Amino acid sequence: MREKFDIVVACDQKFGIGKNNSLPWRLSQDLKYFKELTLSRPPVEDEVPKRSNAVIMGRKTWESIPAQYRPLAGRFNVVLTRNLNYQLPQGVFKAPSLDDALNLLSKGPVDRVFVIGGAEVYKEALIHDRCGLLYVTEVRAVFECDTFLPDFKPFFQLMSCSEVVTENNIDFCFKVYEFSLADHIIYKEAALDGEESLL
Ligand SMILES: NC(=O)c1ccc[n+]([C@@H]2O[C@H](COP(=O)([O-])OP(=O)(O)OC[C@H]3O[C@@H](n4cnc5c(N)ncnc54)[C@H](OP(=O)(O)O)[C@@H]3O)[C@@H](O)[C@H]2O)c1
Repeated sequence: MREKFDIVVACDQKFGIGKNNSLPWRLSQDLKYFKELTLSRPPVEDEVPKRSNAVIMGRKTWESIPAQYRPLAGRFNVVLTRNLNYQLPQGVFKAPSLDDALNLLSKGPVDRVFVIGGAEVYKEALIHDRCGLLYVTEVRAVFECDTFLPDFKPFFQLMSCSEVVTENNIDFCFKVYEFSLADHIIYKEAALDGEESLL
């Protein structure tokens, strides 16, 4: 497993990500992007054992995935829950913390690791010292949401942005950010100096 994990999220202009334990929008091109990204691996010949990527998600996000689509195929699925008795289908892993999930995956034939939500898990992952890239689908509208991402922008640097795509009259684009330790230190010092912490 690579040392760093990446984060994938779609959010609106007010950092909204969910409503009633579901996505606030239906954007098939975003779902396609998510699938391709989380399955993407460099071509490797004669790989023994065969490796796969992994996705880590909170228990509520797991439950939000329609039964016919879970576990997410071709990827190790790890569900975070503090409930030791929580039942999951065979082949789906359970972990009591993000660090436990990362440790578990580090022992297996795992390539890239993606944290895929929801808000509670993003909140922890965004300030984790093993956070690498942040893939954000920026939805250029404001939806009614009950679940939000913290404002990550003070300590992430924008690396790239796609063309704007339009679907169902909604504009969105795919951005890639990188965690900036220096900005995070400045941000944390400012927070300690009395400014309100967003995280
Ligand atoms: N827009 C997007 O890209 C996107 C992506 C994913 C999800 N979402 C949306 O986000 C919403 C769900 O987010 P949420 O914040 O309510 O729930 P969540 O983060 O998916 O799940 C929260 C649950 O996960 C477990 N958990 C979280 N952090 C943990 C940790 N560090 N250690 C152990 N267990 C942990 C706990 O489960 P137990 O209570 O079982 O202990 C907790 O109640 C939904 O609306 C969903 O559609 C949006």
